[in-house]
Amino acid sequence: MRYSLKEILDLAEAGSFAVPAFNVYNLETLMGVARAAEETKAPIIIQMYSRLFDTDTGRFMAPVIREMMDDLKTPVAFHLDHGVGIPEIMRAIRLGTTGVMLDVSTLPFEENIKITREAVALAKEVGVGFEGELGHIGSTKDEKWADYTEVSDAVKYVDETGLDALAIMVGTAHGKYAKAPKLAIDRIEEIHNNTKAHLVLHGGSGVPDDQIKAAVNAGIRKINFGTDVCYAFMDGYKELDPYSAPLDVTMSKVAERVKEFALEKIKLLGACKV
Ligand code: 13P
Ligand code: ZN
Repeated sequence: MRYSLKEILDLAEAGSFAVPAFNVYNLETLMGVARAAEETKAPIIIQMYSRLFDTDTGRFMAPVIREMMDDLKTPVAFHLDHGVGIPEIMRAIRLGTTGVMLDVSTLPFEENIKITREAVALAKEVGVGFEGELGHIGSTKDEKWADYTEVSDAVKYVDETGLDALAIMVGTAHGKYAKAPKLAIDRIEEIHNNTKAHLVLHGGSGVPDDQIKAAVNAGIRKINFGTDVCYAFMDGYKELDPYSAPLDVTMSKVAERVKEFALEKIKLLGACKV
């Protein structure tokens, strides 16, 4: 069932759980997470990085994702992840996304507000949910990580942009962690208590289960997983019989490995509905 980003996150808020947002890169990663959603009747978000939309991968994957959304009985949103600008957002909407993210988190605060407000108005016009980012969530490889999102900034940002979902910096980063992160759970709770926007945690791969659970209890409603989707795929691929040629058979085993990964996260986030 096609859901907008806002509709699916409203469900999460009402049920006090988080919707897993899986970054997909190809057919096997998509099939893996779709099968996990089917089995658990969980709402899920399928998302692709802005860079995939820059290539044929995004264009060719989009109709497959739309077909899958119609086929699944469970709520599914299709989301542009880390959109880099308004043209990229418009292209993603044209390809059928029901949610878009604009990431201008490295810009000064007032500029971030101004561009985001403009983009929110465009998305709202066509019923597409909107995610912004405040407090830059970088890479695990960055030497210095950005400061945590301030509560008062978050309140002003949500009020002035009117967005549906807000990605906050509370101690995570993208990629493989050298050391398990420790999240600012109190900060999540404070932002959750003071804003209407649904809170998003990026950099979900490698965050210990107890931290994920605490983040959901504190009010996180969407958690992004990218790196670990890739590792699940690659681990499944490494285990293949190198002499077995029919790709449909062999790659379905890889998709199965991605499914196992997705099942774990769906259950951890409280999104399992069976
Ligand atoms: P990871 O790759 O660290 O899981 O982060 C995913 C993400 O935040 C996508 O936006
Ligand atoms: Zn991210």
